[in-house]
Amino acid sequence: VAAVIGRHQLARLLEGWGTGDGALHTRLTGRLRALVRSGHLPAGTRLPSERILAGALNVSRNTVGAAFDQLRGEGIFSSRRGDGTYVSLAGRHTLIRGDDRLRSFLTPLETTLPEATLAGTTLAEAHRGARIDLRSAALSGLDLVTAEIDRLRGADLTELVATHGYLPAGLPALRQAVAGYYTDLGLPTAEDQIVITSGAQQALRLVATALLEPGSPVLIEEPSFRGAIEVLRSAGARLIPVPSGPAGVDVAALRAAARAHRPVLVVIQSTVHNPTGSVLDASGRQALSDLGVPVLDDATLYDTLIDEPPGPALKPTAAYGGPVIMIGSASKSFWGGLRVGWLRADPATVATLTSVKGGEDLGTSVLAQLVTARLLPSVGLARDRRRAALGPARDTVTATVAELLPGWRFERPAGGASLWVRLPGPGATAFAQAAGRAGVALLPGPTFSCADGLDDYLRISFAPPLPDVLSGLHRAAAAWSAFTA
Ligand SMILES: Cc1ncc(COP(=O)(O)O)c(C=O)c1O
Repeated sequence: VAAVIGRHQLARLLEGWGTGDGALHTRLTGRLRALVRSGHLPAGTRLPSERILAGALNVSRNTVGAAFDQLRGEGIFSSRRGDGTYVSLAGRHTLIRGDDRLRSFLTPLETTLPEATLAGTTLAEAHRGARIDLRSAALSGLDLVTAEIDRLRGADLTELVATHGYLPAGLPALRQAVAGYYTDLGLPTAEDQIVITSGAQQALRLVATALLEPGSPVLIEEPSFRGAIEVLRSAGARLIPVPSGPAGVDVAALRAAARAHRPVLVVIQSTVHNPTGSVLDASGRQALSDLGVPVLDDATLYDTLIDEPPGPALKPTAAYGGPVIMIGSASKSFWGGLRVGWLRADPATVATLTSVKGGEDLGTSVLAQLVTARLLPSVGLARDRRRAALGPARDTVTATVAELLPGWRFERPAGGASLWVRLPGPGATAFAQAAGRAGVALLPGPTFSCADGLDDYLRISFAPPLPDVLSGLHRAAAAWSAFTA
């Protein structure tokens, strides 16, 4: 069966293609050729039409036409009359290599800007000549991390180093500390309910591997975390989108979808949602617990909460009962570079997930776990620091977007480091291409959609230093007037 690649997905795979030397069509040809060679566009894939792709890339149809002609000449693409263009069967690979939603972590942006873009920017900016990257909302680490590493001495490790050091379920001291993390949030937890993982990203992967088969129906919020979509896709899940808005997942739609599709898993983010910044209220949590379907709640962003949710203190979703697996991480509170995350489940599920974890990597680095175990008791301090930085950044960014881009709509995020904005209409993928060429990189909505939808949304990160974010917003506003002119 031939795969079809949508225009938004292809635009994502091509990200950054427009920068560099040479004519646009030559660069496009080079990038498409490379995507075939690397297996990202496997043999037999049907490509979007030249007109549709030109629209998504915000270039003329001639540019795409010249690239396709060249690749047809090389035998890399083939066309069937009246039936579009395909990667030729001489393509090297037959399997899709990934969905490429996490590219912003893989490729730093090329930093030099074309002369034209620099006109009108301040000398300081021009001097930096920097392209501004507002794609990733990952935060830099806190100095608490370096301080803890400074305190660590060889003597602290003597007993550990005397063992073999393979701990698939995790370092006991860290499992206890994570159990304490949940207990303090109102969810009593024992050490045997915790598996330590290499980041929340691996926690997602372990659950997908343990619970899903190719074709398994999975309900997931639309929009959702791009890394979750990537993992679930590669496990072969059949993803069914359920709308999620400023109050979190639409519970009525979730119940209806659960009845209609009999999912094996429901994937949600209760606190705080990436990309919307929403928090699910207590009645929503109760509804999830009553669903009678295993729920995976990725609350990785919990420690970036800016506003206390109104009403009685919210507990983690698993505290409301039902088969709920919780995911968390030290990435947002302390530092993503620790690569330490965790899962909380019932002991039987923990046993299954531990054996999957063993097969993946035999355990997360004990050194990183030890540092995290010593940091976790200070999570309250880390939350205060995050709130002190993110609160003012959010307020400045929302005020600036409201002023510069009055046609864009958004809700104030309750936490996290990004703003989810709604454009007046579709075209976010094409606009992100135009903005990228004007010196600011943004993520278009389809990156967060399992259905290649949401092309009327954009995510703006405010994790970089605020002056850079503000320059980026000015460039975005200039690009938007040119785009809509
Ligand atoms: C919702 C969500 N889950 C998981 C992750 C991955 O986190 P980690 O660094 O712990 O792998 C992120 C990172 O941005 C995230 O936003």
